[in-house]
Amino acid sequence: MSPETAFKSQVIIRHQWPTGLLDSDNCFLLYDKELEKVFEDNYDFQDFIESFPFRLGVRAGESIKSFRDFPKNLEIVLARWPQPIKRSQTLVVLGGGSLGDFAGFVASILKRGVGLVHIPSTWLAAMDSAHGGKTALNLGGVKNQVGTFYPAQKIYVIKDLLENSPVLMKEQSYGELIKMGLIGRSQFFKEIMLEKRPPQDFMWRFLKNCIEDKYEVILQDPYETKKIRQALNFGHTFGHALEAHHGWPHGDSVLQGIFFALEWSRYRGDLAAKTFESIDQTIRQCFQRVPAHELNWYRPSSQKVIAKLIEQDKKITADGELLFVFLKTIGRPLLKSVSLTDLLSEGKRQNWLK
Ligand SMILES: NC(=O)c1ccc[n+]([C@@H]2O[C@H](COP(=O)([O-])OP(=O)(O)OC[C@H]3O[C@@H](n4cnc5c(N)ncnc54)[C@H](O)[C@@H]3O)[C@@H](O)[C@H]2O)c1
Repeated sequence: MSPETAFKSQVIIRHQWPTGLLDSDNCFLLYDKELEKVFEDNYDFQDFIESFPFRLGVRAGESIKSFRDFPKNLEIVLARWPQPIKRSQTLVVLGGGSLGDFAGFVASILKRGVGLVHIPSTWLAAMDSAHGGKTALNLGGVKNQVGTFYPAQKIYVIKDLLENSPVLMKEQSYGELIKMGLIGRSQFFKEIMLEKRPPQDFMWRFLKNCIEDKYEVILQDPYETKKIRQALNFGHTFGHALEAHHGWPHGDSVLQGIFFALEWSRYRGDLAAKTFESIDQTIRQCFQRVPAHELNWYRPSSQKVIAKLIEQDKKITADGELLFVFLKTIGRPLLKSVSLTDLLSEGKRQNWLK
């Protein structure tokens, strides 16, 4: 199987839980314990969980991605795993991106690779993290330093599960939705621009576009070696630094990083001023978001602190360059090498940094 084929997971988008669709005697279900609370009165959820004789609910979030705690966490999982462990078994993961990153790593190393099925429980995981095979653990306080490429064979995207997740979590993933709408081949941001109304049903409606657009990029450059897959970092270089510095949720930080990247693209002349205006107005009107530096409470961050965070997060070459994703127009990201110094000066020019 070529790497390109291996990276194309089978994505099944459906309204109901996939109870009975998996060979549960041969699977181990690892799920986010938080879902027991959220779906306390949901019989479909209970039926699904109980259909797996071998299962474990764990507390998810960044702590599950700790490399230091990995041996302990792996032992907890294996204590419930059907014995003997066989490569023919499948790890089914029901949870958000944190559990998906941890469990994907486990699946990739257990017996040098057992089966993997993702059932994303957050909008972010459904549109982004479950797809593309990146697994990750955090090392020494730095995110995603350890990991493997290990795509899931199947990914079930379930409407009942996602529509019942907290509204705040949905709103926090607007950043990733806007990212794919702007850089993806389907250019679905144009539809949002035309409609100019609050994004009530936007997430479910454009989820399929987000997923297809992501695979379109990944399949051209599965291992991120051809300067193609990096386009998915649109809004992330600056966004990750804001996330680490201010502790803002990931999707919100990405949206702020998108504001930064759009304004820089306009300033450099890569993005036409008229297109910039339309995109900027749509984000403000439809998604009710503005660049944080326009708000009274925002205090510009120090360039030194942001420089350190960017250095930790992204690969910077010996001559201080990094690959930054600009936007040429909707559907056309533009990857260019920039110096960290230029990025910091732009941050100052835009009032993000002091
Ligand atoms: N592998 C990738 O390609 C990739 C891409 C983007 C992000 N990520 C990673 O994803 C992680 C973030 O994932 P996330 O945003 O999906 O959240 P998460 O997994 O970190 O979960 C956040 C919180 O929401 C809870 N939760 C999960 N599903 C819920 C639901 N349906 N209802 C109520 N609460 C629920 C969790 O228990 C947790 O407390 C980060 O660690 C990030 O690095 C990975």
